[in-house]
Amino acid sequence: MIRQAFLPFSQPLIGPEEIDEVVDTLQSGWLATGPKTRRFEDEFRDYVGAPGALALNSCTAGLHIALLSLGIGAGDEVITTPMTFAATVNVIEHVLARPVMVDVEPDTLNIDPTRVEEALTLRTRAIIPVHYAGHPVDLDPIHELTRQSGISVIEDAAHALPARYRGRFIGSTTNPVAFSFYASKNLTTGEGGMLTADLDILNRARPMSCHGMSRDAWQRSDKSDYWYYEVKLPGFKYNMSDIQASLGLWQLSKLQKAQRRRRKIVEAYNRAFSELEELEIPVERPEVEHAWHLYVLRIRPQRLRIGRDQFIKELLARNIGTSVHFIPVYLHPYYRKKYGYSKEDFPVTYKNYQRMLSLPLNPRLEDRDVADVIEAVVEVVKTYWR
Ligand SMILES: Cc1ncc(COP(=O)(O)O)c(C=O)c1O
Repeated sequence: MIRQAFLPFSQPLIGPEEIDEVVDTLQSGWLATGPKTRRFEDEFRDYVGAPGALALNSCTAGLHIALLSLGIGAGDEVITTPMTFAATVNVIEHVLARPVMVDVEPDTLNIDPTRVEEALTLRTRAIIPVHYAGHPVDLDPIHELTRQSGISVIEDAAHALPARYRGRFIGSTTNPVAFSFYASKNLTTGEGGMLTADLDILNRARPMSCHGMSRDAWQRSDKSDYWYYEVKLPGFKYNMSDIQASLGLWQLSKLQKAQRRRRKIVEAYNRAFSELEELEIPVERPEVEHAWHLYVLRIRPQRLRIGRDQFIKELLARNIGTSVHFIPVYLHPYYRKKYGYSKEDFPVTYKNYQRMLSLPLNPRLEDRDVADVIEAVVEVVKTYWR
């Protein structure tokens, strides 16, 4: 039976606590970066066990100022993955460095460490692995490659809160790690992000996030020389507001419960879909704890009479919203034209892009919604199997 109301692919779960906290901020007289942003940074730092945390208005901002804080710029090469959102690669362009994309592993769809090794040159200054869908990248071989050479690792953890690699939270290491709090993410502040790193890097990044000023407005607010600041560099406007932090504080305190719900939904999907040869369910390697930001289902086109695009349309006709993560970055016109890429350049990425779709996965889903998604997917498979 087709469900009555459309089920959107993604919906944030905002409770009365978040709403009350935002109202409290609106009435407090302080809306911009202030005491709540500082508290959110401290609580986030403690949650993932990071050396320090800097709250920002996006993950993109975090990746950008991480590159700048490490002095990466024109003439440098940065290795990353094409199986990501364009922001990961755009920031490399922003600092005038050259993005060097390498193909992904067929199971996790994360950057393939052996291909990273093949792509290293004397100009390589950094690697940006992306914890795709929330499954941690195999970081040990990447750190092994970079340890001797002074190459930095900047993790794109937009999907990876909370995730663990070999028992450690993503974000608990000294290298820069950027998280996203965009509306669809596991923790949302509407728009927002967090950069974790050691204090040395954060002390360089913090002024860059607010015009290059020596002290932000909150730091100056109760001082006798409250009006005085110095601009030490031409920084950006990347700071988080206390309105955003109001959401973040409560979202963080509810994260564990939300993750338990995500996992339950994943288990229900896996149970239903692993029985169908036409489908391939996502992996979770034994050494990781997946953040389950996305549930990426792959169809086996040789076993079905329809492709991925039609599969999405069939689900839409059954009132189930889905998405695709991602249109590989190298296929976008800007990158295709600038670097002359063709479809075949990243065969693992391309093949998997053509057969993937992301199903709704968020703690707002009711058991009935999950059952509807399963019923619709199974029905489409059984209508079109060979
Ligand atoms: C893998 C990845 N990296 C970076 C970003 C950018 O995050 P933000 O929108 O917080 O800048 C996203 C956003 O969806 C993403 O999926």
